[in-house]
Amino acid sequence: MTHQELYRLAVLAREMSYSPYSNFAVGAALLCDDGSVYTGCNIENAALGPTACAERVAVFKAVSEGKRGFVAIAVAGGPADSAMPDGDCFPCGVCRQVLAEFCPPSLAVVTKNHVTTLGQLLPHSFKL
Ligand code: THU
Repeated sequence: MTHQELYRLAVLAREMSYSPYSNFAVGAALLCDDGSVYTGCNIENAALGPTACAERVAVFKAVSEGKRGFVAIAVAGGPADSAMPDGDCFPCGVCRQVLAEFCPPSLAVVTKNHVTTLGQLLPHSFKL
């Protein structure tokens, strides 16, 4: 699967975003080392704090189904009234830490116009 194909799956997952409070819709697509892909979207809540980011939804779906090896994640985010995000949406700090729990620093992080790595986005992640 190419990075472009994975990003396209993130754009499709974004269509399921539940984001009535921020009107910022995010989709994520996580590529596992066996070739399978788990997607997620952001799911907001009236109390705001319980809101789940798209990346964490994708990671938790995958991990809860027994997946442990990951090679790339694509993230597509932008104003909900636009079908196609026109800029880069990078994982938030909390999602970077969650990714670091399960993914190597070499994990490719694919956004609309960039490809970087988790290690670049979160050097010296916290580990017990
Ligand atoms: N959001 C994500 O889904 N992923 C991120 O990495 C950053 C933020 C969501 C949370 C919230 O629903 C909306 O974007 C605005 O912060």
